Amino acid sequence: MGAIITGTGSALPARCVTNAELAERIDTSDEWIVERTGIRQRYIAGQGETTATLATEAARNALSAAGRTAADIDLIIVATTSADNSFPASATKVQALLGAPTCAAFDVQAVCSGFVYALSIADAMIGAGSARCALIIGAETMTRLLDWEDRTTCVLFGDGAGAVVLEANDDPSRGIIATRLHADGCQAPMLYADGGISTTQTTGMIRMAGREVFRHAVTNLAQVLTDVIADAGLAASDIDWVVPHQANKRIIDATVKKLGLTADRVIMTVDRHANTSAASVPLALDCAVRDGRIQRGDMLALEAMGGGFTWGACLLRY
Ligand code: ACO
Repeated sequence: MGAIITGTGSALPARCVTNAELAERIDTSDEWIVERTGIRQRYIAGQGETTATLATEAARNALSAAGRTAADIDLIIVATTSADNSFPASATKVQALLGAPTCAAFDVQAVCSGFVYALSIADAMIGAGSARCALIIGAETMTRLLDWEDRTTCVLFGDGAGAVVLEANDDPSRGIIATRLHADGCQAPMLYADGGISTTQTTGMIRMAGREVFRHAVTNLAQVLTDVIADAGLAASDIDWVVPHQANKRIIDATVKKLGLTADRVIMTVDRHANTSAASVPLALDCAVRDGRIQRGDMLALEAMGGGFTWGACLLRY
């Protein structure tokens, strides 16, 4: 049994903050941010907006697009690094807010790669027959992990959520074809939060060696895309759309160039959303489905890399 995406949805906080607005508080400029990252604005969660509320709104939109209701769900996975509480999992909060049945619900923590990890887990569970209609969500309020005194990180991130309904499907020409997941814990000092429950009893704040992250991201993402395409017995030219993790326009451009792909086959939303970590791939996917670029039958390559390092890719016929 394979797994197919039957609906997508997303959600953003009400407040949009432009680079110019940030430059009023921080020693930065719209010009620097756009040139180095492609980011023009980001959404920042306000009072009452949390990872779980954004996840729930995205989930409702995905369920409606799939023609499903909460009663149909038999698995909920939320990929997040910024859960509402240390426990329980955000997925259980989403389950309660949706009024979903008492199905399995858990979070996956793989930072920016979380959604690709979650999709791969759900695909395997559907393949094993332990789920038929899964809700897979990437949701974050990463701005709550930022050090607003650190201009090298605080300009890069935003909040939001994206979701897909993933359903069992016995048509081998559609759905998820191949996934690859990787991690290299030795690289943790390159990108991490400098606190945690079991160490400082605080959340900590994001710390990053930007140039190193950039270099690893391009190398790892180009390799994992090449591998997953080869696993499927396809060529890069068979990909209709790359839906990349939206960290930095320059990372995305350099990665797809290595595969010989052009910008007109890449979904780019980093200008509008900045880096929303685990939410970025499903957010970009939903935008491109709703604006009509991604059509049924298109071959999609999803990829992401984040702290850990973790990285991965998923190839699917939409
Ligand atoms: N505004 C203005 N100037 C800045 C800012 C800012 N926000 N941040 C740094 N600078 C300055 C630095 O202080 C430095 O000044 P100096 O030359 O006087 O010392 C100068 O800009 C250049 O700094 P670099 O760090 O060398 O700039 P770089 O070109 O490497 O760009 C960036 C930095 C954008 C962070 C880049 O390294 C990058 O994108 N790395 C990838 C990081 C990333 O995307 N992380 C997200 C999480 S991981 C992931 O999702 C894949």
